[in-house]
Amino acid sequence: PARHAVFGHPVVHSLSPRIHGAFGAQTGIAVAYEAIDAGPATFADALAAFAAAGGTGANVTLPLKELAFDLAATRSERAERAGAVNTLVRRGETWHGDNTDGAGLVRDLTDRRGLDLRGRRTLLIGAGGAARGVAPALLDAGIPDLFVVNRTPARTDALADALGEPGRVHPRHFEQLGELGEFELIINATSAGRGGTFPALPRSLVGMRTVAVDLSYGEASVPFLAWARAHDVRDVIDGLGMLVEQAAESFELWHGVRPETAAVFEALQARNA
Ligand code: ATR
Repeated sequence: PARHAVFGHPVVHSLSPRIHGAFGAQTGIAVAYEAIDAGPATFADALAAFAAAGGTGANVTLPLKELAFDLAATRSERAERAGAVNTLVRRGETWHGDNTDGAGLVRDLTDRRGLDLRGRRTLLIGAGGAARGVAPALLDAGIPDLFVVNRTPARTDALADALGEPGRVHPRHFEQLGELGEFELIINATSAGRGGTFPALPRSLVGMRTVAVDLSYGEASVPFLAWARAHDVRDVIDGLGMLVEQAAESFELWHGVRPETAAVFEALQARNA
């Protein structure tokens, strides 16, 4: 079978081998997908060794997405816009870099949750790699206005500049959040939850239709989603659906077949519940 892997650090708890194994079983495609632990210092060598051993596709997770961007000889337009690569495809003697995170989030929100993004005034919290990965896809999906806040304001401005749509993208400071009114979609793209915390947010952000989304899942999504529940948002969504959808998108890039995601998502959700 074709050899695939996810690289990251830490990577032992990655659900990607399980997800890709399930997609393989469902589509009848033989999949050999492993998790390879590599940090920034070892990733380039580990990836070269993987290619030499017949590896033809890889996912890349924290903290390697920017490095994967640099190591890719060619890149998709959406990877260029995100400045990060989560999917590598072997083309001849080099790697082609793509980014399926944004498409995965949008597919989860629209197809699985039935949200129409076109009318949703959106607040994106965070301006790191995860935020950069999803912001272009949110704009493409028709978000009318994307407000961005981040602990470090310089990064907020850098993200807004990179998106290049000053009419729709509005960088703001945390201290201004109380003046911005209600949002129909609030997305946590910070890694704060991994440390068990989340910055305080004003109640005035929440209205009748507000949906709260955390790009992480499991423990890391608890602090933000607990805030959202305590403020009676209409719905809370963690990053598990996005994880499955970005995997499906990667699977299609490698194998030319789009797997069904519903059963895989439901099995993972039941296991995590
Ligand atoms: P990732 O790939 O997960 O986005 P990252 O690029 O290191 O990782 O970005 C982490 C994001 O979480 C950043 O937006 C970071 O804010 P800064 O740019 O100010 O560092 C945000 N973040 C991390 N811990 C945070 C905390 N305790 N409070 C608020 N924001 C936090």
